[in-house]
Amino acid sequence: MSKKITIVRSEHFNAAHRLFNKNWSNEKNEAFYGKCNNPNYHGHNYDLEVMITGYINKESGFLIDMKLLSNVIKDEIIDYMDHKNLNLDVPEFSSLIPTAENIAQVIYNRLRSKIQDEFELKVKLYETSRNFVIYPS
Ligand code: NI
Repeated sequence: MSKKITIVRSEHFNAAHRLFNKNWSNEKNEAFYGKCNNPNYHGHNYDLEVMITGYINKESGFLIDMKLLSNVIKDEIIDYMDHKNLNLDVPEFSSLIPTAENIAQVIYNRLRSKIQDEFELKVKLYETSRNFVIYPS
């Protein structure tokens, strides 16, 4: 049997956030999160890579239809997060600090239910060109 293959779909969205732990003092939040604690929020240009792994479909020659994958990402992530204030507009972050780690986890959970179980899913989220997270690792 041939080995598994991974396809990657790149996407992009802009969003605002504020990193703030409500159980900490303002001083501790500011010292720990720095600029990302700005009370009036700030934006990031997030780059997202969605990685799907599995076996090529013998009949189609595809792993998964890229058009379908791109539609799922658009419906579940881009339309949901692009140009939004993550803290205020995205329900998952009403009780979850919108760090890159948590955003990647939310993205994974939203996509996982829409992608067939036979495929492995991994999400890579860049908050800046130098800082990115991978979930699950
Ligand atoms: Ni930030």
